[in-house]
Amino acid sequence: MLESIVHRRRLRTLLTLSVVATAAACSSDDANPLAATAPVQEAAPSEVAAASIITLGDKIFEDENLSLKRNQSCSSCHDKAWGFTSPNTTVNAGGAVMFGSIRDRFGARKPPSAAYAAQAPILYFDSEDGTYVGGNFWDGRATGARLGNPSAEQALGPFLNPVEQALPDNACVVYRIRYGAYAGIWEGVYGNSIFKINFPPNTDRGCESEGFTVPLSPADRAKVDAEYDRVGIALASYEHSSEVSAFSSKYDAYLNGTATLTPAERLGMSIYEGKANCAACHPNAGKRALMTDYTYDNIGTPANPLNPELIRNPSFKDFGIGGFFGQPSEYGKQKVPTLRNLDKRGVPGGAKAYMHNGVFKTIRQVVHFYNTRDVLPDCATLPAPKFGENCWPAPELTDNLNTDELGNLGLTPQEEGALVAYLKTLNDGYFVPPKRR
Ligand code: HEC
Ligand code: HEC
Repeated sequence: MLESIVHRRRLRTLLTLSVVATAAACSSDDANPLAATAPVQEAAPSEVAAASIITLGDKIFEDENLSLKRNQSCSSCHDKAWGFTSPNTTVNAGGAVMFGSIRDRFGARKPPSAAYAAQAPILYFDSEDGTYVGGNFWDGRATGARLGNPSAEQALGPFLNPVEQALPDNACVVYRIRYGAYAGIWEGVYGNSIFKINFPPNTDRGCESEGFTVPLSPADRAKVDAEYDRVGIALASYEHSSEVSAFSSKYDAYLNGTATLTPAERLGMSIYEGKANCAACHPNAGKRALMTDYTYDNIGTPANPLNPELIRNPSFKDFGIGGFFGQPSEYGKQKVPTLRNLDKRGVPGGAKAYMHNGVFKTIRQVVHFYNTRDVLPDCATLPAPKFGENCWPAPELTDNLNTDELGNLGLTPQEEGALVAYLKTLNDGYFVPPKRR
């Protein structure tokens, strides 16, 4: 068993290097990480333009007008003060799935962090390690193949998703930006082509109704589609920048030689890399470590009984990337998330939620789960079950369950505590990062 762990980890490490290499190749283009691959940015823009594409992305990210009821932005579900996850403590403490612009509508998953997602490679299958790598979303369905960056493609989804920002047509997004407060910044970045689209007079009102399609000529429709892709690229540029992916935690300071870890944090780090095997999937080596290898795994996360989708449909199961590909050998595998900003909270002690369905509420609980998943009995078999104390519920899906890298780590309570202390060093904002994109 130890053999298999060591072997797997070596493969994982190799994999990590290739991911890091991809990310580095991306960010070595100083001006704009997406310029090389983005069809709309043939030449690398100047420093000024690069700065304003990030500003533009920030404006779009925060703009509540870009939703059906003008009440929801990206940031409503990915708030900076909360590590770019949900700021809603009531939601986080319960079903963990955020409501949409239409308040009684819900998806089925917890918002992952929008930080460190634009660093993911375009989705590919690594045949040596037998795993998909890259993409965005818990199930990898924003592959990045079309726009050259998964987050650029991901960003085009929420505006039109009926359970999120719920606008009826991508032309509504382009229209509201064109007539919005930061149209000048848009023009500075992308020129004035957006002003040359002929929007019919009923666009403004039509965009307030579901099911509306802006009646555009084929030529204007093509222009809208091109501008809409630019929205995704601006958002991904913002997410890739130091404003969102800051690498400014205490752990980064430690790697840079400007902070010292406490004895507990140090012990936690050695457990993370050794006995607990966390680094096999959440690699922490090297400066600007991403704390994810962007692979997919079924770690046996239990269902969240408060997930609104599960309440609506009791037989609901989240098949992860296997659901996206319709591939049983991948059922139950969810994307390995970054562990940066786990403990970042907009209000002290405010509730957070972890995993694709937000079933876990504390970092300690997560660590205890990895440590004892296969040690404690199934809650269904006990007369007085106490979640995470005397039992764990069965996995949401047992297909492809990972049984060789986790589940019975043999950590003492003190070692669990040290691991938590280390994970808490990963919050950005410990120092002000140098301006780089
Ligand atoms: C209603 C809440 C909500 C809104 C609004 C929203 N998101 Fe998300 N976001 C989610 C959820 C839930 C997921 C995961 C969905 C899935 O995996 O199927 C997600 C996933 C993501 C991811 C993928 C992260 C990763 O690691 O794969 C990024 C990036 C992201 N959102 C950015 C954005 C941007 C940009 C916007 C605005 C255009 C936005 N989100 C609007 C809830 C939201
Ligand atoms: C075999 C790969 C693997 C290993 C080893 C692993 N993880 Fe994970 N981790 C994952 C996957 C996959 C998910 C997402 C699972 C899901 O959503 O159901 C995850 C999710 C998490 C989350 C939730 C993050 C969030 O934003 O919701 C935390 C925290 C976490 N892991 C910490 C750890 C720690 C601590 C260790 C070591 C004890 C560890 N992981 C070991 C694959 C792994």
